[in-house]
Amino acid sequence: MRKKLLLGNWKMNKTRPEAKEFAQGCGEMVEYAVKHGIDVGVAPTFVCLCPVIKHAPKELIVAAQNVNEHPSGAYTGEISIPMLQEIGVEWCILGHSERREYNGETSEACNLKIKALLAANMIPVYCCGESLATFEAGKTKEFVEEQIRTGLKDLTAEEAAKVVIAYEPIWAIGTGKSATKEIAEDTIGYIRSVLRDMFGEAAETIRILYGGSVKPNNIAEYMSQPDIDGALVGGASLTLDSYRGLIEGLVA
Ligand code: PGA
Repeated sequence: MRKKLLLGNWKMNKTRPEAKEFAQGCGEMVEYAVKHGIDVGVAPTFVCLCPVIKHAPKELIVAAQNVNEHPSGAYTGEISIPMLQEIGVEWCILGHSERREYNGETSEACNLKIKALLAANMIPVYCCGESLATFEAGKTKEFVEEQIRTGLKDLTAEEAAKVVIAYEPIWAIGTGKSATKEIAEDTIGYIRSVLRDMFGEAAETIRILYGGSVKPNNIAEYMSQPDIDGALVGGASLTLDSYRGLIEGLVA
């Protein structure tokens, strides 16, 4: 049985006091989620990682939104894995479509980062997903397969079992236009078949999340699908009320 996971992607939102307020206010809902066997977490900006770790219950997973694969050196503007680990961060999102679009992040680059994270015993959350044009051309599966095969290239089955995948159709992110549960399940089921081909039985333990306009009122629909193991949520993860609604929807 794969444990359900809710991960809030805060993107470039919240100042430190705002992040602290969320962290201080989420205790009860995190406890509720844990009691129901659900993993919950948030991915703040780099500057908000410390306040969240300091003020949130330790059960709240705290993820970075990016990392550099080199341990240190002349990489201006970058943050390394040892820096994240030193402050207690064990998870990291990679390959989000916004980073692919605005920062030129490729699946090849993600592959290097994923390998570096796994070598450091951290958990990568690897995002994939197609554009509207690709979706409308009926090429979603081949596009996403390429992202998966490249991003997870050369991993052992044991390593792959530790990775979390997030399928986020770009046309559904922040648009209010979520994919139907059938579309999400169809693609996520396909991703699992690709993982099975690459890693055998380990594919059954890899958690695959859906993301893209997930809200408290639609999260339960996705969770009813056999291959969907949770959600990566942007906008609806920002307020305590909405985050609580997401947890309640997951538990339902
Ligand atoms: P959204 O973003 O929930 O605001 O659509 C999801 C994401 O980009 O991770």
